[in-house]
Amino acid sequence: MKRSIVLIVDDDPGVRDTLETILKDCYETVSVSNGLEAIEVVKSMPIDLVLMDINLPHMDGFKAMGEIKKADNDVGILVVSATDNAQKAVHALNIGAYDYIVKPFETEDLLLKVRRYADKLSLKRDVLFLKEELRKNLGYGEIISRTPVMRKVFELVKKVSATASSVLITGESGTGKELIARAIQRLGPRKDRPFIAVNCGAVPAELMESELFGYEKGAFTGAHATRIGKFEYADGGTVFLDEVSTLPLHLQAKLLRVLQEKSFERVGGNREINVDIRVLAATNINIEEAVKRGRFREDLYYRLKVVPIELPPLRDRKEDIPLLAEYFLERHCKKCNKTVKGISGAAISLLSQYPWPGNVRELENLIERLVVLAKDGSEITCDDIPLEVVCPEAETLKFGGEVEDFRKATRAFERRFIINILTKANWNRTLASDIMKVHRNTLLHKMKELGIDNLHPSRRGRTRIAGI
Ligand SMILES: Nc1ncnc2c1ncn2[C@@H]1O[C@H](COP(=O)(O)OP(=O)(O)OP(=O)(O)O)[C@@H](O)[C@H]1O
Ligand SMILES: [Mg+2]
Repeated sequence: MKRSIVLIVDDDPGVRDTLETILKDCYETVSVSNGLEAIEVVKSMPIDLVLMDINLPHMDGFKAMGEIKKADNDVGILVVSATDNAQKAVHALNIGAYDYIVKPFETEDLLLKVRRYADKLSLKRDVLFLKEELRKNLGYGEIISRTPVMRKVFELVKKVSATASSVLITGESGTGKELIARAIQRLGPRKDRPFIAVNCGAVPAELMESELFGYEKGAFTGAHATRIGKFEYADGGTVFLDEVSTLPLHLQAKLLRVLQEKSFERVGGNREINVDIRVLAATNINIEEAVKRGRFREDLYYRLKVVPIELPPLRDRKEDIPLLAEYFLERHCKKCNKTVKGISGAAISLLSQYPWPGNVRELENLIERLVVLAKDGSEITCDDIPLEVVCPEAETLKFGGEVEDFRKATRAFERRFIINILTKANWNRTLASDIMKVHRNTLLHKMKELGIDNLHPSRRGRTRIAGI
């Protein structure tokens, strides 16, 4: 992985040496002693991050920061100041620094703050890399994940796409079952043949048979002409049976025959129709339970799940949330012709903490809504995230009537308030407690009590991206 380049700006050679020693294991470093040189370096080299002293000769640090941002708005600035002054810190954040640290500092504290920006940068690079990969593999679909469990799914999809075996895709609603089914089709030899999706739950049972198998002229009142069904349409291609568990029992028998003998009769006909189709099926309920209760044929179940693919819910692959959020942001910005600068680290952390009962679909819908509501050129911050995502337990408030409502309301307010201030202070707790006018320990205690302590953007783990 490319190492980030850090520019150290300090007039004290001792401080420059110390910073270089602390950083050299993980980062490339360049050092200068004043603001003018710093601006020159930023203009001539791809600097990722600047560690900026404020009291500098010739030009003060704040002025130099303005010029540096003008030269490269993407560069991250961490102010390393000798004065512990909340107002100066807030000023630094207002003019574009992402954080503030006071000299003398603990090595760990400094590394944490540098890593926080470097992680964000590396996520940005991952997204760019992934977009590039997607562009190169346009036919590969747009399924995004960097979690090991989904990478295994991708490998399975690639392998199974080359075969004609039936695949049963299971997973909660919104986990991407249909997307996976389409990828299997797209990656395989049937890619130029039809992909016919049938939602078994959405078609009334009495119409289902003619929908799937077609009917002969005169099969029933109103059947004025022969009509072919989905299985005939899909000849040579793929039929995707969504919510397959809802298929009535008598049609399950007919489907079994299609799978075994590749033949069926249209409704009201006795001519055998032969087809070459691949069947992919999906369900968001546990079919084994349905088999036990006699609602689903056991032989069909085994026939469908020759290759089972299980999609984990989004809450079990939280590392994907930042990546998916950025991806949907870009997609919906394009769709709405809008420019949104990005999603702040703290807002991403909030999204990562929510359990997403509606999975990826729910996340996509939220991002779409945020894009629609966002001002052009703005950044999405914690303020924009709806209360039910910030504090899911506050949802119950809407229904009222519970004894502990007041406690819940207070908790929801406290949580939101503290997250807002922490965001303003870039998750610098000392600074946040100064702004709130409470003792730092009180803030730390509250953060723990409200479950905000692990929301800090730098606490998130990272793994490599994969996408198909
Ligand atoms: N890994 C992913 N990368 C990008 N987009 C995804 C991913 N997973 C799901 N989506 C998007 O989320 C939405 C829901 O996906 P899909 O329709 O495939 O889910 P599903 O499991 O079939 O849901 P349901 O059970 O409700 O039918 C779609 O818009 C899809 O494009
Ligand atoms: Mg679906």
